[in-house]
Amino acid sequence: MAACSTGAGPGSAPAGQVLLRDGRSVAIRAAESSDLPDLRRFLAGLSLQAKRFRFFSGGVDPARIAGAIGATGPDRFGLVALDREGRIVAHALCIELGAGRAEIAVEVADDLHGQGLGTILLERLAQEAERRGVRRLVAEVLPENREMLEVFHDGFDAHVTFHEGVDRVEFPVAAWRLAAWRFPLPPSEPRPADRGKGDANRR
Ligand SMILES: CC(C)(COP(=O)(O)OP(=O)(O)OC[C@H]1O[C@@H](n2cnc3c(N)ncnc32)[C@H](O)[C@@H]1OP(=O)(O)O)[C@@H](O)C(=O)NCCC(=O)NCCS
Repeated sequence: MAACSTGAGPGSAPAGQVLLRDGRSVAIRAAESSDLPDLRRFLAGLSLQAKRFRFFSGGVDPARIAGAIGATGPDRFGLVALDREGRIVAHALCIELGAGRAEIAVEVADDLHGQGLGTILLERLAQEAERRGVRRLVAEVLPENREMLEVFHDGFDAHVTFHEGVDRVEFPVAAWRLAAWRFPLPPSEPRPADRGKGDANRR
């Protein structure tokens, strides 16, 4: 089965409310085409450094990039994290490369770094990729992007090789279980609508 390309709709990706390290709460759900305007706003608000780390250029045009990374299609799916006001504060993307491999990338709002959100999004992206038949995940990371490399290393035991100025990261999709085991989430306060449905932090 082709990676990230089943007929399953975006709503099938792992969703829910999660509590971050500092007690803030975010909602994670599948990205949708209607997210484009807010994705544009979110990308425009990232620091130059974050844009450079994510897109290998600080001078990217948020409108163009949002259209490219927010596009839905049979070979890709994304996740967004929303704050209490419903604004996007993080986004992650998985794109099918064929032969059971998929490329992943993530960006988190600058003021939310170090709260576990990047790890959680990658974990859930991998979980959904596995469900869609992906076996291995890859990413390209600038060697100076220590935060990203540490997340891949600490959470997913990723293998890293340096090639043509870029660190190429690779790990089996099943490694999301490692990250879930290493960084268990604190239980979140159930929203009134969730009461009786079990743990909203369920991975
Ligand atoms: C790289 C990036 C995505 C990491 O996201 P993040 O949310 O800051 O990463 P995390 O918080 O998950 O991981 C960072 C730290 O939290 C820890 N952590 C992870 N999950 C956790 C959890 N559930 N609870 C507590 N701590 C956790 C990690 O061990 C790590 O600890 P350290 O700071 O002591 O090393 C973010 O820095 C970013 O958006 N950078 C700019 C864009 C970019 O570089 N994208 C990558 C392109 S490939």
